[in-house]
Amino acid sequence: MTLLKTENLTKMFGHFKAVDEINIDVKEGEVYGFIGPNGAGKSTTIRVLLGMLKATSGHASIFGKDVWKDAVDIHKRIAYVPGDVNLWPNLTGGEVIDLFMKLRGGSVNKQKREELIQKFSFDPSKKCRTYSKGNRQKVSLIAAFVSDVDLYILDEPTSGLDPLMERTFQECVMKAKVEGKSILLSSHILSEVERLCDCVGIIRDGKIIESGSMDELRHLTRTNLKVETKQPITALDEMTGIHNVERKEHMLSLQVDTENLDDVIRHISQFGVAKLESAPPTLEDLFMRHYEGDGGES
Ligand SMILES: Nc1ncnc2c1ncn2[C@@H]1O[C@H](COP(=O)(O)OP(=O)(O)OP(=O)(O)O)[C@@H](O)[C@H]1O
Ligand SMILES: [Mg+2]
Repeated sequence: MTLLKTENLTKMFGHFKAVDEINIDVKEGEVYGFIGPNGAGKSTTIRVLLGMLKATSGHASIFGKDVWKDAVDIHKRIAYVPGDVNLWPNLTGGEVIDLFMKLRGGSVNKQKREELIQKFSFDPSKKCRTYSKGNRQKVSLIAAFVSDVDLYILDEPTSGLDPLMERTFQECVMKAKVEGKSILLSSHILSEVERLCDCVGIIRDGKIIESGSMDELRHLTRTNLKVETKQPITALDEMTGIHNVERKEHMLSLQVDTENLDDVIRHISQFGVAKLESAPPTLEDLFMRHYEGDGGES
């Protein structure tokens, strides 16, 4: 079942198109990774989804309801974590967590609250004005994950968290997923997206330029090969799907488009393979290819 859907969603700021006819689909129990460079339009899309900005054209719905008109209903069932959390300076972290929980209308689940505070090694007794960026982020994350909502909208939620806390965050996402919750996660940490997300949408200049399941996207990527052969390899340059060939002493390193892997391996094997290492394609490779230069071939 689709929980969140945008259809040709567009947002203009004056003449500037920050979000350009994007289509996103987040299904029940799915973690959707929303990635793209600075200024691509991720936060603008998310603000439209939260009903904080009105779409210029197109449509966006959550739980089948209109994000602009039905914001009150929708917000009872979602939790939002921004990348830069502003808090009430004179309340303690604990008070703010409780406040968020009450605003969402649920009863305070003390046990879950304590567990999360422990997991994030957070001291809830201090006034918010004294918290560092990472600690403000923790307030917002604890308040989100303590809530029993159906959809989490997280816009670079781990900015400022140290690696240990980043891991705690990932555990929380995986737990929410196991419980059947859905998550829209915008992130610059590609390893995080790769680990957590079922589906990914890559946005650039307001347009979704690539989207699909992690498996589908992997097909678009390249496998890194390192190979040593008994005889020198010839005629490699004439093959299709080969990139970044480098020779170092006896080793040859190259990248191969996944669809051409079979042909390339067969070709190489004629020269007597002495050593072969392959590294799986990563989301980072794909991402970089889209962002380097004009996003064209390397
Ligand atoms: N209120 C606004 N008025 C005018 N332009 C805006 C406004 N908000 C955002 N923009 C522009 O829209 C574009 C998209 O911004 P957005 O904040 O959505 O990017 P982002 O993908 O979240 O980037 P980042 O990774 O840096 O958070 C940017 O060019 C930005 O300058
Ligand atoms: Mg942003």
